[in-house]
Amino acid sequence: MISSILLLTGAFVAWLAFKFGYGLHRNIALAKSTGLPYQVVPINPINNVTQAFRFIWLPIWKLLVPKKYWEDVVAVCEYNWQFRKQFEPFANMGQNILIASPTILMLHTADPEFIHQVTSRREDFPKPTEHYKILSMFGHNIVTTEGAVWRMHRKVTSPSFNEKNSALVFKAAIDQAQGMTDYWLRTQKNGSFHTVEHDTMSLALNIISYVGFGLRLVWPGQPLPADADARTIKYASFEPPSKHTLTFSESISGILEHLLPLLLTPSLVLNNVPLRVFKEAKEARENYELYMEEFLREKVQDVRRGDKDIGMDIMGSLVATSYQDGQGGKAGIQLKDSEIIGNAFIMFLAGHETTANVMHFSMLELANNPAAQRRLQQDIDTILGPDSDPATWNYEEKISSMQGSMLGAIMNETLRVMPPVMEVPKKTTPTKAQTSSQPSLLAGTAEQDHGCAR
Ligand SMILES: *[C@@H]1O[C@H](CO)[C@@H](O)[C@H](O)[C@H]1NC(C)=O
Ligand SMILES: *[C@@H]1O[C@H](CO)[C@@H](O)[C@H](O)[C@H]1NC(C)=O
Ligand SMILES: *[C@@H]1O[C@H](CO)[C@@H](O)[C@H](O)[C@H]1NC(C)=O
Repeated sequence: MISSILLLTGAFVAWLAFKFGYGLHRNIALAKSTGLPYQVVPINPINNVTQAFRFIWLPIWKLLVPKKYWEDVVAVCEYNWQFRKQFEPFANMGQNILIASPTILMLHTADPEFIHQVTSRREDFPKPTEHYKILSMFGHNIVTTEGAVWRMHRKVTSPSFNEKNSALVFKAAIDQAQGMTDYWLRTQKNGSFHTVEHDTMSLALNIISYVGFGLRLVWPGQPLPADADARTIKYASFEPPSKHTLTFSESISGILEHLLPLLLTPSLVLNNVPLRVFKEAKEARENYELYMEEFLREKVQDVRRGDKDIGMDIMGSLVATSYQDGQGGKAGIQLKDSEIIGNAFIMFLAGHETTANVMHFSMLELANNPAAQRRLQQDIDTILGPDSDPATWNYEEKISSMQGSMLGAIMNETLRVMPPVMEVPKKTTPTKAQTSSQPSLLAGTAEQDHGCAR
């Protein structure tokens, strides 16, 4: 009995060793065929499981293999290395870091022209949609799909993004920033701040909620608009409305905070293990789901009545595709309810989290650079006038001078140094190698394993 278990275990280990050895051998051969310098790592470093166990395999690898084989490449096996190491690995290993592992051949690139090619040649470099799972929690959407399905999602969502709506975003941003500074003046009696992280999140969420979804959110202590309707009262309320245990803003920030546990924890564990983080994650998700189901039903009625929200009216366009005309919606496209809610989630999330982080990071940088802060103030005074009323600022008139001033420079520099999105994963199709004119690049692939240009 014992001996047959040993035998089976031995056979399994041998099979694994063979599979890994063979895969590594094949990916090294492919890496060689590109003509680019390449690095070898023993395990696919971006796999979700190996990421979690990197504290085990990284030290073993470093112990068993001479230093010169890992000292550079180990930097890009760490989680979020882009934040920690920034350009350093590229400075050490070159503009393109090609990595061969047993299961994946992967390229990190810092070459702007090549990045442009990879991101614009959609058919040649599709998204590895399996890496986007976290964003399809509520339903598939424009970010998590590819090919014909992606084109359908894009057709529905893209008309909302235009210059006319940018002007509206500008106006809403002014109103909300005034709400935020009033709130600060009311609450920060001694004039010191410990963090602005939460407030920049609320600022950006309030802007997208209004411009994108017609939901007018306000700051604590700020009165609701005089013409507030029942819907405004429900979503802006600082007390959870009936059937809810969290406010709308709380449900969104709760999901953002608990994205990882929500994605990684099997529902059996999430529902039954009495840990605070699971309880909070579940509560946020249930509340958000309920808000979105109610919002969808309300919007279907609006659309059937012919009502339209201000601005981008994202939910309105999504709903119109499936519920208008009573016969398969606008332009024959039919999104499922889950896809409508999935896209709304992406627009809420993508519409505020990244922007909020850039505002947060810029404020930190400005706080640490008083000279830059003074130059910023000078430019603002020159462009908008030192004592002008923000209500009179005009987007079309001012936008290009703002973009060319310290305002634009700070935004650009923050995006460069602390990008809110660090990776745009792309892959090549299994059977077709891709060539690139710049710099004679070839992202190779193997039979079932995808080369991955990141
Ligand atoms: C300002 O108020 C905060 C919170 O009330 C407190 O923690 C901080 O120590 C105060 N700072 C000063 C300079 O009094
Ligand atoms: C890990 O990734 C694989 C494929 O890349 C996926 O099938 C699996 O569901 C992921 N696991 C979790 C917990 O996300
Ligand atoms: C910031 O970047 C934008 C877009 O590339 C550009 O139009 C603008 O001129 C830049 N601003 C500054 C001050 O460099």
